[in-house]
Amino acid sequence: MQTQLLRANDPEAIKTAARILQDGGLVGMPTETVYGLAANALNGKAVARIFAAKGRPMDNPLIVHISEFDQIYPLVQSVPEAAGRLAERFWPGPLTIILPKSGIIPDEVSAGLPTVAVRFPSHPVARALITAAGLPLAAPSANLSGSPSPTTAEHVMNDLSGKIEAVLDGGACGVGVESTVVTLAADPPRLLRPGGVTLEQLREVLGNVALDPAVLHPLADGVRAASPGMKYKHYSPKANVIILDGSFEAYKTYVNSHAAPDVAALCYNGENTGLAVPAVCYGGERDCGEQARELFDALRKLDEMKAKTVYARCPEPKGVGLAVYNRLIRAAGFEVLRLE
Ligand code: TXA
Ligand code: MG
Repeated sequence: MQTQLLRANDPEAIKTAARILQDGGLVGMPTETVYGLAANALNGKAVARIFAAKGRPMDNPLIVHISEFDQIYPLVQSVPEAAGRLAERFWPGPLTIILPKSGIIPDEVSAGLPTVAVRFPSHPVARALITAAGLPLAAPSANLSGSPSPTTAEHVMNDLSGKIEAVLDGGACGVGVESTVVTLAADPPRLLRPGGVTLEQLREVLGNVALDPAVLHPLADGVRAASPGMKYKHYSPKANVIILDGSFEAYKTYVNSHAAPDVAALCYNGENTGLAVPAVCYGGERDCGEQARELFDALRKLDEMKAKTVYARCPEPKGVGLAVYNRLIRAAGFEVLRLE
């Protein structure tokens, strides 16, 4: 199959993409977080094609995207008052809310769980596409399963060209890491995946919010993942990533004494000049928003450099930095070395 690359600013592009979705096809679409691979969420066969194209395990459920608040009602059993308060503050935007699902959600979407994840994205192209299709859209990140999430149309083409009908190019994503996932099907509500909406902000609206242990730690053997996506090795470049936790001075000393032909560094802006190995920067040391925006592209660049070992600076797990830390420890298979 030939994948069409559609420019979102071409007035025909949204119509073409909407028609593909109505016909059961797959479209890569920009959102404010990362690019999604969209299909009609109410068509189990179309949704099954998403799993095939990505090589995604069938037990990992998908997020359903809407473009107006009221579209949530048919998808869930009921809309609790807490969901209304979250939506009021954070929708449209990078927050996904999990609730008990209604009967119209195909099993392919929820992967057999009794719940469904719903998100109202703020990206104008995503909203226009959902509205033009007249359908809720199931969409995981538009990468091959296991590789870093895509933040440009080019990333999507690199991973999925030939496997999907079209990619809608809307430029680079503003947030850069996937949405915050919170479940209201638990008491107290629980943060399953950190993202652009922070834990601190969720607590301002909901009061008590539990932090799922899988956000910061590997799952113990035999423990069932609350969010199945959290159990997989994720966001991994081909290189072996090791996070070095400590000052830049300690990092520099460590990296330079381990310099070798296949070694590379993942550091903050401006730090590359002091290092004896090739380096990719992923934002300013104190700017976790920039780190989030640049992390996945940086991981892909390290692959292009064919690095075998990557030493990474350790993000501070606060605010949006918690999302950056969560993605990077997965890319590193939880390997964090504390430097003196
Ligand atoms: O920002 C985003 O959320 C992007 C864009 C495209 O919207 N989408 C995205 O989807 O990141 P995906 O499939 O890559 O990640 C969805 C996460 C997975 O960890 C999945 O296990 C979890 O949400 N999830 C989905 N439905 C769930 C459910 N019913 N219960 C628990 N976790 C769920
Ligand atoms: Mg994903």
